[in-house]
Amino acid sequence: MSPANYRSPYPVPGVVWASLPIPTLLVGPDGRIAEVNPAGETFMNASARMLHGQPVFDRLSIDAPMDEALARARANHAALFINDVDVTTGERPPVQCNVQVAPMHDNPDYVMILISPRDLADRLGRAMQIKSAAKSAIGMAEMLAHEIKNPLAGISGAAQLLSMGLTPEDRELTDLIVEETRRIVKLLEQVEQFGNLRPPERRAVNIHDALDRARKSAQMGFAAHMLIVEDYDPSLPPTWADPDQLMQVFLNLIKNAAEASAGRQGTIRLRSFYDLSLRLRRKDGPAAQLPLTIEIIDDGPGIPPEIAAEIFEPFVSGRENGTGLGLALVSKIISDHEGWISVDSVPGRTVFRVSLPVAPREGPPKPKKERT
Ligand SMILES: Nc1ncnc2c1ncn2[C@@H]1O[C@H](COP(=O)(O)OP(=O)(O)O)[C@@H](O)[C@H]1O
Ligand SMILES: [Mg+2]
Repeated sequence: MSPANYRSPYPVPGVVWASLPIPTLLVGPDGRIAEVNPAGETFMNASARMLHGQPVFDRLSIDAPMDEALARARANHAALFINDVDVTTGERPPVQCNVQVAPMHDNPDYVMILISPRDLADRLGRAMQIKSAAKSAIGMAEMLAHEIKNPLAGISGAAQLLSMGLTPEDRELTDLIVEETRRIVKLLEQVEQFGNLRPPERRAVNIHDALDRARKSAQMGFAAHMLIVEDYDPSLPPTWADPDQLMQVFLNLIKNAAEASAGRQGTIRLRSFYDLSLRLRRKDGPAAQLPLTIEIIDDGPGIPPEIAAEIFEPFVSGRENGTGLGLALVSKIISDHEGWISVDSVPGRTVFRVSLPVAPREGPPKPKKERT
């Protein structure tokens, strides 16, 4: 059959097909494109007329065993999903997509391919899940921390008593007990910090003040070997935050960036800008806008891929002496502020992005007596 008179047995679908915002193709038994919706035309950068009759995988390269997927969908009369694959059309760089393959109900030889580029909503959904997992893990850890600290005090005290009658060689062992218990107590105290984290006392805060405090403190200590550059939008309005907790967030992110560079003089860029594109829809309210954006960017080796999906969870660390609590704390503070944090990391460039709301114009309700 020549492409010109290649016809789908399905009449050109109507308004639903045309309105479907997901690039969708109908593929015939011979693997040729029988229909493509307008979203598909845009995605493939070609008109339906050009695409009709073309072998689908000449026009669309999907990094997955698609022949097998089509065969299986046809054989089982059932849709199947392929997540997180690179899809390329023409000269465009690959786009990460979720792909669905759905055989037509009445004629499974015809198969629909739906391509959803993985968008923000998708990434948000995953981060939300991570957050709730972290919450329950932290709850349990707090309880454990509390229970373990008491017996540890006993162990350490007993070791100190014992050490009094010992020879110097034996005392090394009791010293080890004391030293190691101290280390555990320190870790447990960090865990308890989560539970004791008071609710933020929020007020209008200049983001750059918080960033500057964090930068100064970092540069006097753990980030002395780093070059820290500022790239601020000075016109940003204040955010609505607890200034100390906000500084904690930036300090932790700068600390991780400095530690990632492992002694080498790396560069940390602190960037702030206004970005209206992030809207979060919350369960119990209207969509929240988080236009104030702060990025902490480093040129270190990047997040180890094997832990990349879990770095915001407590106790996940890629470093020898890490506790894995820094980012869990950051994520808790940000969520207490109804903000958002995300990360993009490749070797040579890691970006932690914090998104925060603008302070309400009037500030908090004022006590009445001020007006008299
Ligand atoms: N800027 C960064 N570059 C590379 N890896 C990072 C960066 N920030 C965080 N990580 C990785 O995420 C892990 C978790 O960080 P964190 O929760 O602060 O715990 P910790 O610093 O105690 O290990 C780190 O151990 C590190 O492997
Ligand atoms: Mg850390």
